[in-house]
Amino acid sequence: MPKTYTVTTPIYYVNGRPHIGHAYTTLAADVACRWRRAMGETAFLLTGTDEHGQKVLQAAEKRGLSPKAHCDDLVGDWQAMMGRLGVTYDRFLRTTDADHEAVVSATLQILRDADLIYRAEYEGWYYLPDEAFVTEKDVEEGRYDRDKLVRLTEANWFFRMSRYQAPLIAHIEAHPDFIRPTSRRNEVLGFLRKPLEDLCISRPRARMSWGIPLPFDGAFVTYVWFDALLNYLTGAGWHPVHPSPGWDARWPADAQLLGKDILTTHAVYWSTMLLALQQVCAPEARPALPTTLYAHGWWTVDGQKMSKSVGNTIDVDLLIQSFGRDATRYFFLRDIPFGNDGAFSYDGFLTRYNADLANDLGNLAHRGLSMTTMWLGGVVPPRGAWGPAEEALVARAAGAWATAREAMDQLQFHVALEAVAELIRAGNKYVDTEAPWTLNKEGRVDRLQAVQRAVLELLWFATAILSPVLPEKCAELAAKLGAGPDAAPAALRALAAGARPLDALVAGTPVHLGEPTFPRHRELPAPIAAALDAAHAASPPAAPAAARPAPQEPAVTETAPETPITYDDFAKIKLRTGKVVAAEKHPNADKLLVLQVDVGEEAPRTIVAGIASRFAAADLVGRTVVVVVNLAPAKLRGVVSQGMLLAAGGDKGVIELATVADCGPGEVVR
Ligand code: MSP
Repeated sequence: MPKTYTVTTPIYYVNGRPHIGHAYTTLAADVACRWRRAMGETAFLLTGTDEHGQKVLQAAEKRGLSPKAHCDDLVGDWQAMMGRLGVTYDRFLRTTDADHEAVVSATLQILRDADLIYRAEYEGWYYLPDEAFVTEKDVEEGRYDRDKLVRLTEANWFFRMSRYQAPLIAHIEAHPDFIRPTSRRNEVLGFLRKPLEDLCISRPRARMSWGIPLPFDGAFVTYVWFDALLNYLTGAGWHPVHPSPGWDARWPADAQLLGKDILTTHAVYWSTMLLALQQVCAPEARPALPTTLYAHGWWTVDGQKMSKSVGNTIDVDLLIQSFGRDATRYFFLRDIPFGNDGAFSYDGFLTRYNADLANDLGNLAHRGLSMTTMWLGGVVPPRGAWGPAEEALVARAAGAWATAREAMDQLQFHVALEAVAELIRAGNKYVDTEAPWTLNKEGRVDRLQAVQRAVLELLWFATAILSPVLPEKCAELAAKLGAGPDAAPAALRALAAGARPLDALVAGTPVHLGEPTFPRHRELPAPIAAALDAAHAASPPAAPAAARPAPQEPAVTETAPETPITYDDFAKIKLRTGKVVAAEKHPNADKLLVLQVDVGEEAPRTIVAGIASRFAAADLVGRTVVVVVNLAPAKLRGVVSQGMLLAAGGDKGVIELATVADCGPGEVVR
């Protein structure tokens, strides 16, 4: 059986409703699988829920339900969230599924038979949120919240993890892509410089009953991570003694995606479990190590990891209702390198949506389809004679294809999406320069046909590459261009086989203008504005969830530390000096000031800035600041802001405003 491209996500604790931080990994996995399928490979996406252990038990107890009834009740939320995001998983595994419980039990037994599991007394600090014993040193260094640490002495069962320290280091060193990004690989190697202890893999049933019993000692259940990690093998169809036919087409996983918080459990616990199983299983059931463990960063809100316990989660459905499913998929993969942390803000989402989707892609689509409809009979025009400007577009498209293909293969989604975004911007510039409206006015039909054909070809080219990320919208665009639902994968495969870019459409095919694919939003859509207002009414804001996006931390990807932008990109940002003529506190938000800033226009602009913790309103009047004057207006807690001030400080908060001395208002800043 040919090898399938297998991607896994962590399995999610069923102790609350899913939020966008959970959806993120699953989205990335879905895009990776859709990409492979489009390129003609078979792909297997495994995801699911982690249902045993203390956290889930406590959540169930709070609701007065048995843990299984609690999980049965909530698991639908997780599946529905994935469905609404368009995630095409192949298996949704629950750790309470019978085949998984059988795999865990048989695995424990085979390791016990080989004396790789033994019983011993253990005393240590148990950290409830992680469901794990933690080291004395980490506790002393204050790495854990004291309230959530308990001192436990337990007889327990241990896995001889320490035996596999040297082989694991050797594997990591010999396989540079085993742990990505490189910075995370280095972290794991650093961790492995200390002697590795054996791993406690059980909890006494008397203390924590909600787990899979050890087959050789019914007084214990298996520890949550041992159970959970094995889901990856169960999902592939593995069993230590009776593996299902074809399991080895789905295993080893090509990419196991996970958040950076669970890298050690995967890179060390999981890898050593696999190394041990390689020793004890018959050849036909020996599981290899995955090709890549990819640790992504966290989505933060106001500088804190988005999480249920902090209460700063962003609701998946709210984003989908407000901007649509595909825009939600796009934002999370486009906005930050996969591997970095990302500061979420609704305004950042709005800005990205308007810039890339409404203005750039939407505009190119509108220009291509509307002018063809108005002046060329609504059909794909003949190519005619393509000149240097069109050939330059072809060359750019070839470059974008090479970049996007490599990047998608390497899970560098933001690089692929930036390459397409740049091409779309070049396409819009081409339209500005070639001015089809003038060609039409002057009756230069041949040239008009060539230009419109180039624009439609470019639109189709971008649509095909974007289709794994924007499946619905790209199907809509394909239909507008007269292409069927399977045309995008066929186009990608043709490009992979060496087809010339921008040579795919058939002259005479009818096109349809239809409604705008990505309507522009002048301000935050109503559902988000209403949710923010409701949150504000419920409790005065500590910090605005809709604040301007905080700057990203430096990239941790193995390639470019930040995606470089061109001068053209930079030139899009219009900066001008502005004199603060009035300033006051925001009526609804403690951290915001509302400024009136003279930027050399007829009237001063209202600018809402998140700088109240650093500056008193009165101190700002008279200062000459630097203003981004072409940022889309956005409503911040009910006040429309018509620009943004530049300030130093980043995630730590504002340290100083960028100001200029000896300069009047309205001067251009570059
Ligand atoms: N059940 C374990 C995983 C077992 S895998 C064998 C677990 N579950 S979790 O529900 O707490 O987290 C699942 C994943 O969601 C983790 O990869 C975690 O990093 C990710 N995220 C949760 N909040 C997140 C953000 N705010 N941002 C990005 N991802 C985050 O851990």
